[in-house]
Amino acid sequence: MKNTVSKQDGHQAFIAQAEKAWRENSKKLDETYRLHYHMMPPAGWMNDPNGMIYFDGHYHLFYQHDPYQAKQGPMHWGHARSKDLVHWEHLPVALAPSGEYDMGGNAGQGCWSGSAVDNNGVLTLIYTGHVDGKTPEEVQCLAASTDGVTFHKHTANPVIGDSPDAERFGFRDPKVWKHGEKWYMIVGYGKDGIGKGIIYTSSDLLSWDYQGAAAESDGTMGDMWECPDLFPLGTDHQHVLLISPMNIAPVKNLYLAGNFDYDSCRFEQKHAAQIDYGFDFYAPQTLLDDKGRRIMIAWMNIWGATMPEQAHGWLGGMTLPRELTLAEDGTLRSHPVPELAALRGLHTAAADVALTDNEFVTIDGVRGDSLELDIVYDLAVTDASEVGVRVRCSEDGSGYTEIRYSITEQKIYMDRNLGGEGDGGVSEAPLPVQADGRLRIRLFLDRSSIELFAGEGRIAITNRVYPNPKDTGISFFARGGTAKLDTLDAWELSSVW
Ligand code: FRU
Repeated sequence: MKNTVSKQDGHQAFIAQAEKAWRENSKKLDETYRLHYHMMPPAGWMNDPNGMIYFDGHYHLFYQHDPYQAKQGPMHWGHARSKDLVHWEHLPVALAPSGEYDMGGNAGQGCWSGSAVDNNGVLTLIYTGHVDGKTPEEVQCLAASTDGVTFHKHTANPVIGDSPDAERFGFRDPKVWKHGEKWYMIVGYGKDGIGKGIIYTSSDLLSWDYQGAAAESDGTMGDMWECPDLFPLGTDHQHVLLISPMNIAPVKNLYLAGNFDYDSCRFEQKHAAQIDYGFDFYAPQTLLDDKGRRIMIAWMNIWGATMPEQAHGWLGGMTLPRELTLAEDGTLRSHPVPELAALRGLHTAAADVALTDNEFVTIDGVRGDSLELDIVYDLAVTDASEVGVRVRCSEDGSGYTEIRYSITEQKIYMDRNLGGEGDGGVSEAPLPVQADGRLRIRLFLDRSSIELFAGEGRIAITNRVYPNPKDTGISFFARGGTAKLDTLDAWELSSVW
């Protein structure tokens, strides 16, 4: 269904038409790769999580959305909410391009990424209006809602009408938070080949003062920082800055941990590392919930990838919600939220399974495409060079995704070269053996995704895979010697849709 509303009809007419489109398009989906327990659009295209906020007893998740097609087009803000971070309810589209500042460019236009705040009980969205070919091309805008569902764009839009420099590469994705009585905004920016997160401050969300760059690339961290998110975590001045740096492939996401000074608006970086080592983790955003937890969700795809679900009428998943904490040494840890245990169904356990060199061991009852696996290898008693598990295995053994741990290199790999449709490639991450000589890997398999967590929150690897739905086998192995699968817990996970 095409958009036929004209600009004069106003924002609510665009919203009504957008909702009609996704409702109609959702009846025509091919369900093959639809995810069972990850957030995804009801139909059409989805990219970045936007406006994540805990408000009025719900976790709200907005997202970059084209309700008319499974392609990147004029960006709307889709909207979903959840009481438990597990079950999601789709709400009407929140924002549609409708103004001079967010509508009209041929290739790129719309309500691009941004954030949400609670402004004295008014749910307020701050987003980038993007119009290709216009000068300025990117401006920052506000929209607000008193019922948490219907959003009105502010008459003062754009509230930041231009970037600090006329010549720049990107000025978008505002993330706003309150500290004391003041609002702070970090915006993704790029100038002269250097990605930056620049800061504005305000007392009323309408009038903003530019404060310069909180942090910028040292020349190795990309030429534009998309979707920056700066937030306090830990004690004192400790803050974490999440960024999605452009043009430093293969790295697509980074966190910087250090201190932020609210007077000078400068961030002092102490650590920098990848947040997730997979191919399909981009534009993460966080919220603070009523329990004081910092929860992160990212887009579970990547620009430029082959995206087989597009041919099925939809595109895009969100990662599982992950809680972020800082370790004593100031580095970041991420763990899937414990609420996910609500999905657990049939449980199978095994212990002390001997793995001999290059034999593939299956365990009765352990197979499927919607599973949680908690795997512990005992590496104190092995002479193998590698241990691992193959998931989504075909009957004839020709298709699978292989997760292997190299004991000699102390590295974990996820190899999806034989994983099915879509892009191949091998993800890798450094992973020392635990102090007790064990290696614990948690895997969440959904129909077209795999998320791996290891190293007590240090390592996450997120990849989309598109195997034949019939390929549900799981097998464990060792290479170069024998090893022991110490314990295995496997749960079938139910669908939330
Ligand atoms: C990141 C991004 C943002 C932009 C949005 C457009 O994936 O490129 O920088 O606001 O997507 O949809």
